[in-house]
Amino acid sequence: MAGSTTIAAVRAREVLDSRGNPTVEVDIRLDGGATGRAIVPSGASTGRHEAIELRDGDPARHEGKGVLRAVAGVNTIIAPAVCGSTDAADQPALDEFLRELDGTSNKSSLGANAILGVSLAAAHAAAAAAEQPLYRYLGGPDATTLPMPMVNIISGGRHAAAGLDMQDFLAIPIGAETYSDALRMVVDVYRAVGRILTQMGPYAYGVADEGGYGPPMPCHEDALAILYDATRMAGYRSARNGDIAIGMDVAASEFVDGDGSYALRAEGRSFTSRELADLLAHWCDTYPIISIEDGLAEDDWDGWEYLTQRLGASAQLIGDDLFTTNPQRLAQGADAGIANAVLVKPNQIGTLTETLETVRLAQERGYLPVISARSGETEDTTIADLAVATGAGQIKVGSITRSERLAKYNRLLRIEEELGEGGRFAGREVFARFL
Ligand code: PGA
Ligand code: ZN
Repeated sequence: MAGSTTIAAVRAREVLDSRGNPTVEVDIRLDGGATGRAIVPSGASTGRHEAIELRDGDPARHEGKGVLRAVAGVNTIIAPAVCGSTDAADQPALDEFLRELDGTSNKSSLGANAILGVSLAAAHAAAAAAEQPLYRYLGGPDATTLPMPMVNIISGGRHAAAGLDMQDFLAIPIGAETYSDALRMVVDVYRAVGRILTQMGPYAYGVADEGGYGPPMPCHEDALAILYDATRMAGYRSARNGDIAIGMDVAASEFVDGDGSYALRAEGRSFTSRELADLLAHWCDTYPIISIEDGLAEDDWDGWEYLTQRLGASAQLIGDDLFTTNPQRLAQGADAGIANAVLVKPNQIGTLTETLETVRLAQERGYLPVISARSGETEDTTIADLAVATGAGQIKVGSITRSERLAKYNRLLRIEEELGEGGRFAGREVFARFL
């Protein structure tokens, strides 16, 4: 579908995400007839330094979580400003224009949810006009690497009703030869964990926000032990260099106190920053943990220095709330030598161009990028294509239940099939430096 890529029409609406919360969907049509759609996700354990998600704050509607103001901003401010004049195929110029139109440093005027919806919908429309899948359009002919999935199995923190303070216990199928094998292996582990939880009786399990189990559990080490045992029950080697390794998202910013101490209800005590880092290091000695996200809080940079010295050579240390997909924060972190990986969530920063800049910066500075979903998701699959487009090597989307998660995993299965012999799986090599 060749033809003009000038934006002809932009239309936003309020739709619902996987928690039933309102979110922004944007449709874009180009002069040549091509169309693109994007839906913006939403976090629960949001970082303080994220771009602002505009919500109505009207308690009479969706408990204040409506996004009608963000939708109106797209339809009455952005649409007239870009229609007839802006080229969807020039993403950097479009995104720069949207930032200027907003005029704030954290996108609080129009809202990062409004801006990202337009930014991503334009990319989809431009890819359609070029008659290319999004990953090829954004990444060119070299975009052939399928990411290693890091899959949530047990949830705590803000994503589960009861139990653990720490947020994610993940399976990383480092021994898989292909992406589809990787997915099948973690499904085996997920089922085995379900069998263990059922046998434990009082550990009734429910489905948490990202599709993993959210059981009430007395302590964090139980979750690690269950994941370890389940992996072996499923017939895999649970080892740093085996078939399946363990990842954690501590999401420590969620349980840090005003005085900088970390209160773990499950352990029934508070930890200093150094004690928490030491506890994580101890777990790394006991279990095959290869990746830890937000092991300490977003503003505890001294603690992060210690954590990185302690574990940075043997484990991937991901900054999520720490960096908030912000190139400036990542550059500061790289200068300070803290963490060695960055979680990449487009809605933390608010445009596709800045998201790609963060990935590029990470790759330049030797930080591993991990493309990530939010806990509030939709059927939108943009991040699956983004992972392949950037060759990021890793993706974190939640568990292998709930269709807002499977939409991404299944999209990657289709891309795997499409690439065929021309594709490759990131595989164990991603973690080579830690093994
Ligand atoms: P969030 O969780 O989307 O609720 O922030 C995801 C994560 O912390 O990685
Ligand atoms: Zn996180």
